[in-house]
Amino acid sequence: MAVKTIDLIVGARPNFVKVAPVYRALQQLGPGVALRLVHTGQHYDVNMSDSFFEQLNIPAPDVSLGVGSGEHGAQTAAIMAAYEASLLQARPALVLVFGDVNSTLACSLTAVKQNVRAGHVEAGLRSFDRTMPEEINRVVTDHVCDLLFTPSPDGDENLRREGIAPEKIHRVGNVMIDTLVAAQPLIERSTITTTLGLRRRHFGVLTLHRPSTVDHNGSLTEMLETLATISQRIPLVFPVHPRTRRRLAEGPHAAIVERMPHVHFLDPLPYGDFLRLVSDSTFVLTDSGGIQEETTYLGVPCLTARANTERPITVSEGTNVLVGTEPAAIVEAVGEVLDGKAPAKRVPALWDGRAAERIAHVIAQELGCG
Ligand code: UD1
Repeated sequence: MAVKTIDLIVGARPNFVKVAPVYRALQQLGPGVALRLVHTGQHYDVNMSDSFFEQLNIPAPDVSLGVGSGEHGAQTAAIMAAYEASLLQARPALVLVFGDVNSTLACSLTAVKQNVRAGHVEAGLRSFDRTMPEEINRVVTDHVCDLLFTPSPDGDENLRREGIAPEKIHRVGNVMIDTLVAAQPLIERSTITTTLGLRRRHFGVLTLHRPSTVDHNGSLTEMLETLATISQRIPLVFPVHPRTRRRLAEGPHAAIVERMPHVHFLDPLPYGDFLRLVSDSTFVLTDSGGIQEETTYLGVPCLTARANTERPITVSEGTNVLVGTEPAAIVEAVGEVLDGKAPAKRVPALWDGRAAERIAHVIAQELGCG
């Protein structure tokens, strides 16, 4: 029997967290399947990329496209051109893409245009906000892929509503939670909370990197003033994404940052340290997607500083509250958490550490192997 190759595509930080369990589960399919890990190079800093490979035991990429940063069109096109050459050489039986970043869109499109089947892990999520680059990536990726692996029932419903054939949809659960479950020993070993001089349940964790939050001077200034107010009540830890770091260094922001002694500004953290801080925190304030899921699993209150979420199950069946971006609303929401008024811990169905196994099972059937 001929060996079938599966390409697993990663590019940006959240992809690394999602690929780790899927790679391991597909390895179990035996010698009939060969895996090729392709890193587009969308993220390239050690602390945005390499540290995740090391901590999550992901093997070194078989192919590094080294595409790097760029505007949307340029970056997406560069990934497509570089990946197409590699795909034509390897002729995989299946290409698996993850999440909603530019690498996800670029490589799924490249695969199907060369008549190679493609699967999307984390399919069906919708914020219904087309100003988010990720929303465009989600919609296009789902509409070109053949296998759609959804984390929750809302994903299935969105896909069906868009006319996608039900037989393409496989609800498997959440692979980010697989990683979180498997990484508990790593997280427990981290000493970052005490190293920073913080007390368990006496600090908040902050992440902000979306263009809509950090790329407009007015909204970033307002957010910083809001954080300054909050940090007078409770210390904050802020691992800063490179996009945000650049913006914070600019004129008006740098001066405000100087006046925030109770906010710990850090470089992006390795996975174990970050999840340790989240686990130990009183609340998380974020504009990220994946962190809404991790806090739900951990039972940590999550305040999402956005007008919408593509992960509504974290609100209906988790600890997430959409607080928007108005300063008064954010300060009030933090006050409620500090007063003990936060949603109780609940974990959505199939967020159980075994989503990748289910994905591997579906793929084995599709490829007639394993
Ligand atoms: C990307 C994803 C976003 C995801 C985020 C996680 C898209 C459209 N966006 O956003 O969905 O939530 O990753 O982090 O795919 N940079 C570095 N070092 C790096 C990578 C980036 O300094 O290793 C800087 C560059 O200046 C770059 C900027 O960060 O221009 C933005 O990087 P980019 O990959 O374009 O988007 P993210 O904001 O990271």
